[in-house]
Amino acid sequence: MQTATIAFDKFNALADDDCQERIRAARARLGKKAVLLCHHYQRADVYQHADLTGDSLKLSRLASQTDSDFIVFCGVHFMAEVADIMSKPSQIAILPDLAAGCSMADMANLAKVERCWRELEAVAGDPDRLFTPVTYINSSADLKAFCGEHGGIVCTSSNAPKILEWSFARREKVLFFPDQHLGRWSGHKMGIPLDEMVVWDPDLENGGLTADEIRRARILLWKGHCSVHQMFQAGHILRFRNEHPDGLVISHPESNFDVCRLSDYVGSTETIIKTIKAAPENTRWLVGTELNLVSRLAEEVKPEGKVVQFMAPMVCMCSTMGRIDPQHLAWCLENLAEGSVVNRIAVPAHEAALAKVALERMLAAS
Ligand code: 13P
Ligand code: SF4
Repeated sequence: MQTATIAFDKFNALADDDCQERIRAARARLGKKAVLLCHHYQRADVYQHADLTGDSLKLSRLASQTDSDFIVFCGVHFMAEVADIMSKPSQIAILPDLAAGCSMADMANLAKVERCWRELEAVAGDPDRLFTPVTYINSSADLKAFCGEHGGIVCTSSNAPKILEWSFARREKVLFFPDQHLGRWSGHKMGIPLDEMVVWDPDLENGGLTADEIRRARILLWKGHCSVHQMFQAGHILRFRNEHPDGLVISHPESNFDVCRLSDYVGSTETIIKTIKAAPENTRWLVGTELNLVSRLAEEVKPEGKVVQFMAPMVCMCSTMGRIDPQHLAWCLENLAEGSVVNRIAVPAHEAALAKVALERMLAAS
């Protein structure tokens, strides 16, 4: 039976150090009943408690493999939704702060995608025969369900080109949402010319495109982006190369096309970490992804003489993921230890079933 919930107010004023103690104590009481999954962008004072870490693809696999009763997700809302969808029905997914969303995921919604589908039908014919809908995992569960229902699929930053191949093997064209940059870079990696990938602006009629532009396009790129990765610019790379001709550059594919094109490597958060860890000693790196990851990695590889530099001159953190702080983590773990579930993420069953179809297609194809 669920016991009375401990209010968050009691935790809000706690010092970070007190929270660390309480997190450890609550975890000791919960034992194997709770597992803590952390994305690589998570702040250090939360990340230190992780049982499992990874990029979105790895975390979605891990969520389907764990046996714990509670999956405490230190990431953003769509990640906890994926954990709920991929875990067993008896398992409970928890997001310590419900305000930890992803601003890119919010740039597409079901009403706008359904309108797009209707407009495509009017202009180009049955979209279920012409277009494979591909949603980046950074999207709400109902958009994953839309893809499941319409013969589409989910992709992550580590498998997007492979997922596009899967999609083009089935239908002639792709509608890719919500990140135009990941879609463009992945299409380019497949050899699709840039002028065959056009931006669909969901706030304009027919995406702001002519009927002819829609008919000629191979990929329609939803007009969405990540507010963190948009800060990285080609000029940052050119300056670095000028100052450090032997330096290497690695970027996340949510960065714009020029940044990806000028980088030596482009990959997911897990790929960025693995690539730099596996690099020879005394190498110098410029990294285009979120600051918490870059700062942690810089410290880890420093003993090998590797220098890791953040790409932008200003601070760019995933502020929404940063809402998962020690206070919220301590609060939700103490509640769990007391038998009270707070901040459960539960995707409605019919939506979860369809979203799972699209996620499982992705896991099978990658
Ligand atoms: P990864 O899957 O590469 O971890 O990316 C998730 C993300 O949100 C990057 O901004
Ligand atoms: Fe979303 Fe960007 Fe944060 Fe990734 S870094 S979770 S895409 S807002």
